[in-house]
Amino acid sequence: MSEPTQRRAERFFNEPGVAGFIHRSFMKSMGHDDDDLGRPLIGICNTFSELNNCHQHFRELCEAVKRGVLQAGGTPVEFPTISLGENFLSPTSMLHRNLAAMDTEEMIRSQPLDGVVLLASCDKTTPAALMGAASADLPAILVSGGPMLNGRQGDQVLGACTDCRRLTAEHRAGRLDDAAYRGYEDAIVRSAGHCMVMGTASTMNALAEVLGMALPGNAAIPAVDSRRLRLAQAAGRRIVGLVAEDLRPSAILTPQAFENAITLLSALGGSTNAVVHLPAIAGRRDLDLPLRLFDEISARTPLLVDLKPVGRYQMEELFYAGGVPVVIKELLPLLHGDQLTVTGQTLAESVADAPAPDGSVIRTLAEPLDAHGGLAVLTGNLAPDGAVIKHAAASPELLRHRGRARVFTSVGDLRDRIDDPELDIEATDILVLQNTGPVGGPGMPEVGNLPLPAKLLRQGVRDMVRISDARMSGTAFGTVILHVAPESAIGGPLALVVDGDQIELDVPGRSLRLLVDDAELERRRAAWRPPAPAYRRGYGSLYLSHVDQAPLGCDFDFLHGHSPIDTEDQPKF
Ligand code: FES
Repeated sequence: MSEPTQRRAERFFNEPGVAGFIHRSFMKSMGHDDDDLGRPLIGICNTFSELNNCHQHFRELCEAVKRGVLQAGGTPVEFPTISLGENFLSPTSMLHRNLAAMDTEEMIRSQPLDGVVLLASCDKTTPAALMGAASADLPAILVSGGPMLNGRQGDQVLGACTDCRRLTAEHRAGRLDDAAYRGYEDAIVRSAGHCMVMGTASTMNALAEVLGMALPGNAAIPAVDSRRLRLAQAAGRRIVGLVAEDLRPSAILTPQAFENAITLLSALGGSTNAVVHLPAIAGRRDLDLPLRLFDEISARTPLLVDLKPVGRYQMEELFYAGGVPVVIKELLPLLHGDQLTVTGQTLAESVADAPAPDGSVIRTLAEPLDAHGGLAVLTGNLAPDGAVIKHAAASPELLRHRGRARVFTSVGDLRDRIDDPELDIEATDILVLQNTGPVGGPGMPEVGNLPLPAKLLRQGVRDMVRISDARMSGTAFGTVILHVAPESAIGGPLALVVDGDQIELDVPGRSLRLLVDDAELERRRAAWRPPAPAYRRGYGSLYLSHVDQAPLGCDFDFLHGHSPIDTEDQPKF
């Protein structure tokens, strides 16, 4: 790209004739003077919403960014984009991630901004912001909102929502009465911020650091700790520098940066959702992240961080142990430390001052929690294009297992029958859920960790093998095989499984097989009919027509790639 002779905002406000007149006068209507209009115009993309508890403090966070922009000689302008509150959206926030990414990209692209600070945090908001920023390719820094404080009930530390699920299972099993259950409900989510276990939000905000798109330390500072406000202010100052240096996401989001992200994901025992989001972000830079890369890197990367749902601690303890920079510094022998970051330094330089691991929350390479990361990619006749398991969160005795399939054809079918006392089910059976993928869900909802049948829970069963084309919350756990591709709703082999089939899982061997002969599968395929589409109009219809399968990141096929803003005309009247 040739060096721009003028910044975008400068061109916009100095256009000749009536265009420049209008641009200046309408900006002045908001109190800006000519001095403001001569400075870099920094957009602050604010995903505040009263329907997103994780972002409830974003007004204050935004003010801190503005202070930083002003300190560095820029003019801050806040604008809203769609906010995706994980627990408030139906049928799933994943249906709207691409909509949020489009909103982010188009608002960066269409407005006369020189740089942008992206305020994101809750599960899908961070990948959406990074996808949009990668395609728009204007200087950008991500500032996340930080994790919630630990939940607390008496002397118990609670984690949203790993313990939401554990406590609900205890309640369903009759081991926790209603009053105690409601007491936990009052105590688990105590502050602003995103879920505080190593779920999807914690994972994606940590990956933003190692990708180089966020300032060091961004991921772990608790949402309500004043150090987060100071980090937001520092990001406001730094974005003005990024504009002066014309340092863009295209210089940061390299193939090596994505390999770094997968390495950190493995060392963190992070969310399986990153296996969907990282290919989607990479796709915006025209980069392929094949599933086998996740398996290869996970196999060679030790697990260093002891956080729920895999381990013992939560983000608050990770912060007290020094945060993600400590993990990155320890991992440097396995990382591309020469990658550029938004600091203007290399990744290695940016974490040079981080302390050593404490040996408890963060382990050393010499004494890891496990020799391997927590993820594995499975293939076989049940998942020709791959499936994912977070085996670090699974029961070791189930990692090699053969069992009888018990099939549910939809979430509704599961809800109707899973607790039926007459359900023919044994602990060694394999629960199969169909039609919950990107198209079938729709939106690939986080239903992959199917609830166990109540009658087995009462017998003390706490885990079974579960297989679906759905996702699983990053806060969940169990022997759960996810993201089966191609999905059942478009005719993938998962659609052909029927009750009583034998399925063989071999995680060490990386295989997932349906033990039914080919002739029988062909007979079933000929009789198979796709489910009725979930939408016939509107955004849902657009989504169904264009969503990719899980290994490609569930982006829209027409959103791959990027189109640099400076090659486009400025708006004219
Ligand atoms: Fe926002 Fe969990 S609800 S991260």
